[in-house]
Amino acid sequence: MSTPHPVITIDGPAASGKSSIARLVAQRLGFTYVNTGNMYRAMTWAVLQAGVDPQDAEAVRATAASVVIESPVAEGKTQVCIAGHALTDAELNSDPVNRAVSHIARVVEVRERLVAAQRALIAIGPLVMEGRDIGSVVFPDSPHKIYIDASEDVRASRRSAQGHADQVAERDRLDKQRKASPLVIPEGARVIDNSHITLEQAVEQVIVTLKLS
Ligand code: CDP
Ligand code: CDP
Repeated sequence: MSTPHPVITIDGPAASGKSSIARLVAQRLGFTYVNTGNMYRAMTWAVLQAGVDPQDAEAVRATAASVVIESPVAEGKTQVCIAGHALTDAELNSDPVNRAVSHIARVVEVRERLVAAQRALIAIGPLVMEGRDIGSVVFPDSPHKIYIDASEDVRASRRSAQGHADQVAERDRLDKQRKASPLVIPEGARVIDNSHITLEQAVEQVIVTLKLS
Protein backbone atom coordinates (compact mmCIF):
# COMPACT_ATOMS: atom_id res chain seq x y z
CA MET A 1 0.00 0.00 0.00
CA SER A 2 1.65 3.28 -1.04
CA THR A 3 1.42 6.40 1.11
CA PRO A 4 0.56 9.96 -0.03
CA HIS A 5 3.88 11.22 1.38
CA PRO A 6 7.29 9.57 1.87
CA VAL A 7 8.00 7.87 5.22
CA ILE A 8 11.57 7.18 6.29
CA THR A 9 11.43 4.26 8.71
CA ILE A 10 14.18 3.94 11.33
CA ASP A 11 14.28 0.88 13.59
CA GLY A 12 16.86 -0.54 15.96
CA PRO A 13 17.62 -1.68 19.52
CA ALA A 14 17.61 0.44 22.69
CA ALA A 15 20.10 3.32 22.89
CA SER A 16 21.48 2.63 19.41
CA GLY A 17 21.12 6.31 18.44
CA LYS A 18 17.78 6.04 16.57
CA SER A 19 16.10 9.08 18.11
CA SER A 20 19.06 11.42 17.71
CA ILE A 21 19.64 10.30 14.11
CA ALA A 22 15.94 10.41 13.18
CA ARG A 23 15.52 13.91 14.65
CA LEU A 24 18.51 15.28 12.74
CA VAL A 25 17.51 13.57 9.46
CA ALA A 26 14.00 15.04 9.81
CA GLN A 27 15.44 18.52 10.43
CA ARG A 28 17.72 18.26 7.39
CA LEU A 29 14.85 17.18 5.13
CA GLY A 30 12.10 19.33 6.67
CA PHE A 31 10.07 16.20 7.50
CA THR A 32 8.09 15.69 10.74
CA TYR A 33 9.87 13.50 13.30
CA VAL A 34 7.82 10.81 15.07
CA ASN A 35 9.25 8.92 18.07
CA THR A 36 6.93 5.90 18.43
CA GLY A 37 8.79 4.68 21.53
CA ASN A 38 7.33 7.71 23.30
CA MET A 39 3.83 6.48 22.45
CA TYR A 40 4.56 3.11 24.14
CA ARG A 41 6.20 5.00 27.02
CA ALA A 42 3.14 7.26 27.41
CA MET A 43 0.82 4.27 27.48
CA THR A 44 3.10 2.73 30.12
CA TRP A 45 3.01 5.94 32.19
CA ALA A 46 -0.81 5.86 32.07
CA VAL A 47 -0.93 2.19 33.12
CA LEU A 48 1.43 2.86 36.05
CA GLN A 49 -0.60 5.94 37.07
CA ALA A 50 -3.65 3.67 37.23
CA GLY A 51 -1.79 1.40 39.68
CA VAL A 52 -1.87 -1.58 37.31
CA ASP A 53 0.82 -4.31 37.40
CA PRO A 54 2.65 -4.03 34.01
CA GLN A 55 3.03 -7.82 33.87
CA ASP A 56 -0.72 -8.42 34.25
CA ALA A 57 -1.60 -8.44 30.52
CA GLU A 58 -5.35 -8.65 31.12
CA ALA A 59 -5.37 -5.61 33.42
CA VAL A 60 -3.06 -3.71 31.03
CA ARG A 61 -5.42 -4.48 28.13
CA ALA A 62 -8.46 -3.22 30.05
CA THR A 63 -6.75 -0.03 31.28
CA ALA A 64 -5.06 0.81 27.96
CA ALA A 65 -8.37 0.53 26.08
CA SER A 66 -9.74 3.59 27.90
CA VAL A 67 -6.60 5.76 27.71
CA VAL A 68 -6.99 8.85 25.51
CA ILE A 69 -3.72 9.31 23.63
CA GLU A 70 -2.97 12.03 21.05
CA SER A 71 0.08 13.12 19.04
CA PRO A 72 -0.10 16.84 18.24
CA VAL A 73 2.77 18.31 16.17
CA ALA A 74 4.95 21.06 17.64
CA GLU A 75 8.28 22.36 16.31
CA GLY A 76 8.65 19.68 13.66
CA LYS A 77 7.92 16.68 15.86
CA THR A 78 5.02 14.90 17.47
CA GLN A 79 4.41 15.23 21.20
CA VAL A 80 2.47 12.66 23.21
CA CYS A 81 -0.55 13.70 25.28
CA ILE A 82 -2.54 11.51 27.63
CA ALA A 83 -5.99 12.90 28.40
CA GLY A 84 -4.74 16.33 27.30
CA HIS A 85 -1.55 16.24 29.42
CA ALA A 86 1.65 16.64 27.34
CA LEU A 87 4.13 14.20 28.88
CA THR A 88 7.54 15.58 29.83
CA ASP A 89 10.86 13.90 28.97
CA ALA A 90 11.28 13.12 32.68
CA GLU A 91 7.91 11.32 32.76
CA LEU A 92 8.59 9.41 29.54
CA ASN A 93 12.08 8.28 30.57
CA SER A 94 11.60 7.59 34.29
CA ASP A 95 13.08 4.42 35.81
CA PRO A 96 9.63 2.82 36.38
CA VAL A 97 8.68 3.47 32.73
CA ASN A 98 12.02 2.04 31.49
CA ARG A 99 11.40 -1.10 33.55
CA ALA A 100 7.77 -1.59 32.47
CA VAL A 101 7.58 -0.44 28.85
CA SER A 102 8.57 -3.69 27.12
CA HIS A 103 5.85 -5.53 29.07
CA ILE A 104 3.20 -3.06 27.94
CA ALA A 105 4.50 -3.22 24.34
CA ARG A 106 3.95 -6.99 24.25
CA VAL A 107 0.17 -6.64 24.56
CA VAL A 108 -1.34 -7.11 21.10
CA GLU A 109 -4.29 -4.74 21.63
CA VAL A 110 -1.94 -1.96 22.77
CA ARG A 111 0.14 -2.44 19.61
CA GLU A 112 -2.91 -2.50 17.32
CA ARG A 113 -4.11 0.80 18.72
CA LEU A 114 -0.75 2.53 18.51
CA VAL A 115 0.04 1.17 15.04
CA ALA A 116 -3.30 2.57 13.77
CA ALA A 117 -2.47 5.94 15.35
CA GLN A 118 1.02 5.87 13.77
CA ARG A 119 -0.35 5.11 10.30
CA ALA A 120 -2.85 7.98 10.64
CA LEU A 121 0.03 10.43 11.17
CA ILE A 122 0.82 10.22 7.43
CA ALA A 123 -1.89 12.89 7.01
CA ILE A 124 0.61 15.39 8.51
CA GLY A 125 2.97 15.10 5.50
CA PRO A 126 6.41 13.52 4.95
CA LEU A 127 7.65 11.71 8.07
CA VAL A 128 10.75 10.27 9.69
CA MET A 129 9.27 7.63 12.02
CA GLU A 130 11.45 5.72 14.45
CA GLY A 131 10.81 2.63 16.64
CA ARG A 132 11.03 -1.17 16.56
CA ASP A 133 8.49 -2.27 13.91
CA ILE A 134 8.15 0.74 11.63
CA GLY A 135 9.75 -0.83 8.54
CA SER A 136 8.42 -4.33 9.29
CA VAL A 137 4.81 -3.66 10.34
CA VAL A 138 3.72 0.00 10.38
CA PHE A 139 4.94 1.01 6.88
CA PRO A 140 6.30 -2.22 5.33
CA ASP A 141 5.97 -0.85 1.78
CA SER A 142 8.15 2.19 2.37
CA PRO A 143 11.18 2.16 0.05
CA HIS A 144 13.13 4.20 2.65
CA LYS A 145 14.04 1.78 5.44
CA ILE A 146 16.97 2.12 7.83
CA TYR A 147 18.07 -0.13 10.72
CA ILE A 148 20.40 1.56 13.22
CA ASP A 149 22.61 -0.74 15.26
CA ALA A 150 25.43 -0.44 17.81
CA SER A 151 27.19 -2.98 20.03
CA GLU A 152 25.64 -3.83 23.40
CA ASP A 153 28.57 -2.25 25.31
CA VAL A 154 28.37 0.99 23.35
CA ARG A 155 24.60 1.17 23.84
CA ALA A 156 24.80 0.53 27.58
CA SER A 157 27.48 3.20 28.01
CA ARG A 158 25.59 5.74 25.86
CA ARG A 159 22.47 5.27 27.98
CA SER A 160 24.33 5.55 31.28
CA ALA A 161 26.11 8.68 29.98
CA GLN A 162 22.62 10.15 29.58
CA GLY A 163 22.14 9.54 33.33
CA HIS A 164 19.40 6.92 32.95
CA ALA A 165 19.20 3.63 34.82
CA ASP A 166 18.04 1.49 31.92
CA GLN A 167 18.55 -2.25 31.46
CA VAL A 168 18.92 -1.99 27.68
CA ALA A 169 19.96 -5.64 27.23
CA GLU A 170 16.88 -6.88 29.10
CA ARG A 171 14.58 -4.59 27.09
CA ASP A 172 16.15 -5.84 23.84
CA ARG A 173 15.65 -9.44 24.92
CA LEU A 174 11.94 -8.84 25.54
CA ASP A 175 11.55 -6.77 22.34
CA LYS A 176 13.25 -9.41 20.14
CA GLN A 177 11.51 -12.43 21.67
CA ARG A 178 7.93 -11.20 21.87
CA LYS A 179 5.34 -12.82 19.59
CA ALA A 180 3.71 -9.59 18.37
CA SER A 181 5.90 -7.55 16.01
CA PRO A 182 9.32 -8.42 17.46
CA LEU A 183 12.32 -6.22 16.74
CA VAL A 184 13.80 -7.48 13.44
CA ILE A 185 15.82 -6.00 10.60
CA PRO A 186 13.01 -5.16 8.16
CA GLU A 187 13.19 -6.63 4.66
CA GLY A 188 14.94 -4.16 2.40
CA ALA A 189 16.40 -2.07 5.25
CA ARG A 190 19.90 -0.60 5.04
CA VAL A 191 21.76 -1.52 8.25
CA ILE A 192 24.00 1.21 9.69
CA ASP A 193 26.20 0.24 12.64
CA ASN A 194 27.10 3.47 14.40
CA SER A 195 29.13 2.00 17.29
CA HIS A 196 32.29 3.79 16.21
CA ILE A 197 31.09 6.78 14.20
CA THR A 198 29.75 10.15 15.33
CA LEU A 199 26.12 11.19 15.22
CA GLU A 200 26.88 13.53 12.30
CA GLN A 201 28.56 10.71 10.33
CA ALA A 202 25.58 8.43 10.98
CA VAL A 203 23.15 11.13 9.78
CA GLU A 204 25.25 11.60 6.64
CA GLN A 205 25.14 7.85 5.92
CA VAL A 206 21.35 7.85 6.25
CA ILE A 207 20.95 10.85 3.93
CA VAL A 208 23.28 9.30 1.33
CA THR A 209 21.36 6.01 1.47
CA LEU A 210 17.98 7.61 0.87
CA LYS A 211 17.04 8.10 -2.71
CA LEU A 212 14.37 10.75 -2.31
CA SER A 213 13.37 12.40 -5.57
O1 CDP B 1 14.84 5.07 23.07
P1 CDP B 1 14.90 3.60 23.37
O2 CDP B 1 15.52 2.83 22.26
O3 CDP B 1 15.47 3.28 24.68
O4 CDP B 1 13.40 3.07 23.49
P2 CDP B 1 12.10 3.63 22.81
O5 CDP B 1 12.30 3.75 21.34
O6 CDP B 1 11.67 4.83 23.56
O7 CDP B 1 11.07 2.44 23.05
C1 CDP B 1 10.69 2.03 24.35
C2 CDP B 1 10.07 0.65 24.25
O8 CDP B 1 8.84 0.75 23.53
C3 CDP B 1 10.88 -0.40 23.52
O9 CDP B 1 11.82 -1.05 24.38
C4 CDP B 1 9.80 -1.34 23.02
O10 CDP B 1 9.39 -2.25 24.03
C5 CDP B 1 8.62 -0.41 22.74
N1 CDP B 1 8.48 -0.03 21.33
C6 CDP B 1 7.85 -0.93 20.49
O11 CDP B 1 7.51 -2.04 20.91
N2 CDP B 1 7.59 -0.59 19.20
C7 CDP B 1 7.95 0.60 18.73
N3 CDP B 1 7.66 0.92 17.45
C8 CDP B 1 8.62 1.53 19.56
C9 CDP B 1 8.90 1.17 20.86
O1 CDP C 1 16.81 6.50 20.44
P1 CDP C 1 17.83 5.58 20.96
O2 CDP C 1 17.51 5.04 22.31
O3 CDP C 1 18.18 4.48 19.98
O4 CDP C 1 19.22 6.37 21.12
P2 CDP C 1 19.48 7.94 21.39
O5 CDP C 1 18.72 8.37 22.60
O6 CDP C 1 19.28 8.70 20.13
O7 CDP C 1 21.05 7.92 21.66
C1 CDP C 1 21.60 7.57 22.91
C2 CDP C 1 22.80 8.50 23.18
O8 CDP C 1 23.87 8.13 22.32
C3 CDP C 1 22.52 9.98 22.92
O9 CDP C 1 23.08 10.76 23.97
C4 CDP C 1 23.26 10.25 21.62
O10 CDP C 1 23.74 11.59 21.50
C5 CDP C 1 24.44 9.28 21.71
N1 CDP C 1 25.01 8.88 20.40
C6 CDP C 1 26.37 9.06 20.16
O11 CDP C 1 27.08 9.55 21.03
N2 CDP C 1 26.92 8.71 18.95
C7 CDP C 1 26.18 8.16 17.99
N3 CDP C 1 26.74 7.80 16.83
C8 CDP C 1 24.79 7.96 18.21
C9 CDP C 1 24.23 8.32 19.44
